[in-house]
Amino acid sequence: MMKNSMVVAAVFALVSSPSALATGDVGKGQEIAAGACAGCHNPDGNSIIPINPNLAGQHAEYLVKQLMDFKAGGDQTPNRNSPVMAAMVAPLTQEDMENVAAFYAAQTPVSTGNANNNEDMLEKGEILYHGGNIDNGVPACASCHGPTGTGIPPHYPVLAGQHAEYTYTQLDLFNKRKRTNDDGVMQKVLTRMSGAEKRAVSEYIQSMETR
Ligand code: HEC
Ligand code: HEC
Repeated sequence: MMKNSMVVAAVFALVSSPSALATGDVGKGQEIAAGACAGCHNPDGNSIIPINPNLAGQHAEYLVKQLMDFKAGGDQTPNRNSPVMAAMVAPLTQEDMENVAAFYAAQTPVSTGNANNNEDMLEKGEILYHGGNIDNGVPACASCHGPTGTGIPPHYPVLAGQHAEYTYTQLDLFNKRKRTNDDGVMQKVLTRMSGAEKRAVSEYIQSMETR
């Protein structure tokens, strides 16, 4: 028992050290996550329901940015429009957001693999992810999200292992300019991508090993 709590304390110390990305307090973040977020994102951020994104192991800076973007300032519309998440972030201060982001960033993402047995689709998605499509000018996802899907903090989020359904929805929202908090970067990527390509790359992303 004693030994276990010492291990936990050591992990927390590591996460809150100045060299780690997280500036938030993991312990305080866990309290928020367990109370308001676990019902949809699961206690450790590995969500089970495919429309709710996995948050475990995501970069803290990216998470804080999303939480801020969900929040409407005064009578402005939020940069990222989600009625569900707008209600969730309404009571959170910026410090709360940093804490909860630090908590999720410190959790281990779980690979669920992909039950989709359509090998052709997964292969098409893999080729697109790593090499893009020269014919219609779609850039390789790997150039910004990394060859293993771990992203590059602070701007480029982790994608590996994310639910295909969530990813596909986001690609569609970026494309239709219903999610605009990417400063047009993802929109440019998606303009010439077909629906089948979006589906294939989303399925491939879910099949990628988390790390
Ligand atoms: C009722 C279900 C529900 C609850 C409760 C909930 N979320 Fe979410 N969350 C969602 C859904 C659905 C999305 C996707 C929103 C979209 O883009 O349409 C999301 C998206 C997010 C994202 C963006 C992730 C990404 O990869 O861009 C973050 C961060 C997040 N939620 C954090 C939280 C936190 C922190 C809490 C608790 C304070 C919370 N959520 C509570 C359903 C929920
Ligand atoms: C030029 C760089 C760049 C390229 C290339 C790129 N992305 Fe992105 N992507 C971004 C940035 C930046 C964001 C974060 C936007 C934000 O802050 O909300 C993002 C966000 C995303 C998200 C939202 C993640 C989440 O958790 O909500 C998905 C999904 C995504 N990209 C998929 C892809 C796919 C698939 C490709 C290849 C077809 C791709 N991206 C190529 C820069 C890029």
